[in-house]
Formats: sequence, structure tokens, C-alpha cells
Amino acid sequence: MTDPVVIIGSGIAGLVTALALAPRPVLLLTRAGLGQESATARAQGGIAAALGPDDDTGLHLADTLAAGAGLCDAGMAERILESAPDVIAMLARHGLRFDVDETGAPSFGLEAAHSRKRILHTRGDGTGAAITDALSGAVRNCAAITVLEHAEALRLLTAGNRVGGVVIRRQGRIQHLAASSVVLATGGIGGLYDASTNPTGNCGAGIAMAACAGAELADMEFVQFHPTALATARRPLSLISEAVRGEGALLLNDLGQRFMLDVPGAELAPRDLVARAIHAQIAEGRRVFLDARAALGDRFAARFPGIFRLCAADGIDPSRDLIPVRPAVHYHMGGIATDARGRSSLAGLWAVGECASTGLHGANRLASNSLLEAAAMGLEAARDIADQAAPPLRMALPDADTMDVPPGRSEADAEVIRAITSQHLGVLRDAAGLDAAIAQLLPLAQSDDRLADPALVALAIAVFARLRDESRGAHARTDFPEAWPQATRRHMTLPQILVAARDSAVTQPIARSA
Ligand code: SIN
Repeated sequence: MTDPVVIIGSGIAGLVTALALAPRPVLLLTRAGLGQESATARAQGGIAAALGPDDDTGLHLADTLAAGAGLCDAGMAERILESAPDVIAMLARHGLRFDVDETGAPSFGLEAAHSRKRILHTRGDGTGAAITDALSGAVRNCAAITVLEHAEALRLLTAGNRVGGVVIRRQGRIQHLAASSVVLATGGIGGLYDASTNPTGNCGAGIAMAACAGAELADMEFVQFHPTALATARRPLSLISEAVRGEGALLLNDLGQRFMLDVPGAELAPRDLVARAIHAQIAEGRRVFLDARAALGDRFAARFPGIFRLCAADGIDPSRDLIPVRPAVHYHMGGIATDARGRSSLAGLWAVGECASTGLHGANRLASNSLLEAAAMGLEAARDIADQAAPPLRMALPDADTMDVPPGRSEADAEVIRAITSQHLGVLRDAAGLDAAIAQLLPLAQSDDRLADPALVALAIAVFARLRDESRGAHARTDFPEAWPQATRRHMTLPQILVAARDSAVTQPIARSA
């Protein structure tokens, strides 16, 4: 009998991979309840798909490459963007109904740095929740998929360069699961920062597991800050979608000035530029607001019902009030390096969705490309796993009590890491801050502390950022404001990251042609 494929994570990437593998047996592990606590469930933006009459994949690709600031893998990007019709059809088969206009035609929204209206939404700003509902329901109804909720994956079991199982903690017990095919779909890293729109528990667990097993990481320095999170004490922060600016809302400071007017594209300039402009205002002691009163006014609640509710929970009526905003970590372009089939550098290990780095996003993700990528790569990985020859012989599993596994931790534990990342790995970085972060994170990452895994992921971000002595896309160095003439992506394994953190490689940047 075939081992089940083990999939870890229940955002869009994990759910699509599981459904596409059926009728092959799948064991889907999820840290919380199915589909809960995933960034997908919180996504307001939608899915970018070049399906409008004035649009095509070439135009979508050009926008993606421009946003990616010279660091996208163009072949990979073309392949993923081309799959939009398949992804939309697959979601429709699972019952997703995209919003239509008054003629019944798909209603395409505009987001920053897109040259066409090409974002498909469901229930206005409720796309992620609708996807989660539809796919979770389909997974629950699929006899081939066994769901294990409240199961925390801790380590991958390996023999040489091959993954053969997973160590998990469930109901306080450590268990070993044999699996010749493991798919990581564990999401992003926003929980490593104080201000993020991601679920606070998303601290890069899959990246830590893959790195400890020997897999290559790529582009870890590229952390995307969304310019307009609702500026309150709530954690995670609520997002005020770029689509609100797409409808004409303006950015103002507390002096009533439109400070984006000098930047090409103004409020709809690429996300990194808007985030830095807002950061600069706040650093000068100003407050920043989104003004949707003239652009949307009384239409706000109908067009953005979810955002209207989020604002109301903090006493703000966006049809009449200014909405206070600030940048917050929203997406990680880096992660586990994968190829076009979602394969990592380890046999038997695939990574899909935000925890993976395919090269689609380069240095800066184009809005609403990520749900498309997660679904497209879930389909690719499922096809690749299904095409594998007979799985290798089962690996002998070590005793549960002979393996080092990270101790349990609570979300509050990550506060120590959040203080370091938020101070030194934020919108603006420099060598002194990155060195300080590395010095604080290295001992934590190498300890038996409950924080070792999140510290290791934050350390990888700091080391990649330290080695990139240029400014590109979401990575802005105040000490190196220019971009290198030649853009290159960087891949590193954990031993290389630790060497770079420990020795002079950090102060004497290594070869740029990684
Ligand atoms: C947004 O709605 O502004 C976010 C969309 C995205 O991050 O893709």
C-alpha cells in the first residue's frame, strides 16, 4: 500500500495540493483548525488573472517583472501566470463564485503596479475567506484526505539527501510519521515581526524545518511591507486593501498633505515605494491616513464590507472618517528554494505557497500574484508527486525519544525575536543594525531554547540582508541606496548561513553571483 503524501499547512497551497492529489491518500496536518490561522483566510486582495478583454499574460508578466525589480525568474513567472485560467477553473469547480459586474461579466479590480484591471474578487474584499470555505469544505468531503488538526510539525526525518518522514507534536505527544513525499505549505514569516497582517503564529516553521534538514533557502532578505495596515494596537494588524486606493482613496498626512504626489503612480506606485514614503512620514513624527470619503463615501460598506467591519471594530467609519494607516509585514518573497514542479533541493520534499521561493516575485511581489502562485504550484506539485515512480522503501524511523525536537512555545515567546526584527530588519536596513541583529539572533538560533526555530529564520533574513549591499525592491539599505548593475538571486543552506553569520564573510560580502 502507498504511504500517504504528508502535506503540512492548510492555506490555499496545502488545500489545493491535497485536493489535486486525490484519490491518492493524503494526510493533511494543520497547526490550528483546518484553514484557520492561515494568511489565505485573511486575504482581501484577490487573484490576479489576465483574463480581461484588454489583457494578456504578456502584459501581466511585464508588470510582474517590473515590480520584481530585476530579480524574478522570468521563465518561472511566465509559467505560473499562464496557469491563471486553470487555477480559476479549478476554484470554480470547487464552488467559488467570483464577483461579476452588472452585465454578468467578471468584475476585474485594480491594484498597485498593475497596468490593467485584472484582480478577481469574491464577496468584495472576502476572497481569501471564500477560498478557505470552499476548499476546506471540499477537503472535508474528500475520502482520500485525512485531516489531522492541532498537529504541529517539528522536524523532517532524513536519510542522506532524502526526506522520509515527519516528527510532529499532537496533544502533548511526539510522534513520527513515515512519508516518502512531504509537501510544506506552512505560509509566511510575519509572526516574527511586531507589526504584521499575518497570523501571529506564522513564524516560518516550514522554512526552519527545511533548513535543518539541509534544503536550500533563497531570497530570504525580501520581506514585503504592505503600506496600509490599520494603525491600531490590534495584533495581527487589520489590512486596508490596496483595492481601496485602486478605487481612488488618497494618502494624507496629519497636515492634510498628499505626500505621494511627487512619486510616479502616486497612491498606486509600487508597494515598496508607498511603504517607504509612509515610513518616512511616521519617522518624521507625522501620522498617516487613508481618505476614502470622496472616492467611496457611502459606497464603502457595500464595496468593502470586510474592511468596513474591521474599521468599525476600532470605532472608525471609513465613509466619514480618515483611516489611520502604517506599513506592516505582509508577505515574504523568500523561502525554501523550489523548481517549476515545487521540488526543493531535497528528494521527497516539495514546498508550495508563501514558504517557497519560486522566483515569481523577485525582490517585490506584485499584488494578488500570491494566491495565484500558491494554487498553481499546488497543482504542479501534485502532478509531480503523482508522476513519481514507485516510492522508495520506507525509512526506519528513529525512536521518538532519541530525536532532538524543539520544545513547545507559546506565541508570546516570539516577542524577543519581534523586538530584534522590528528594530533591525524593517523597511530600512543598514550594516550596523543587521550586525546587531545577527549578534543577538545567532546564539538563540543555536540554542535549545523554545525560540531557536524562529530565531533561525530571522537570522537567515538578517544574513541574506547583510550580504545584499544594495537596495532593490523591498530590501532598502540606507548605507547602499543604489542597486547593483547586475541582479542575482542568492541560494544558501543552513551551514552556509551559520558560517556567514559567524565569520568575516558577513563584513566582507561574498561573491554576488550566488
Ligand atoms: C491588498 O489587498 O492590498 C493585498 C493584496 C495582496 O497582498 O496581494
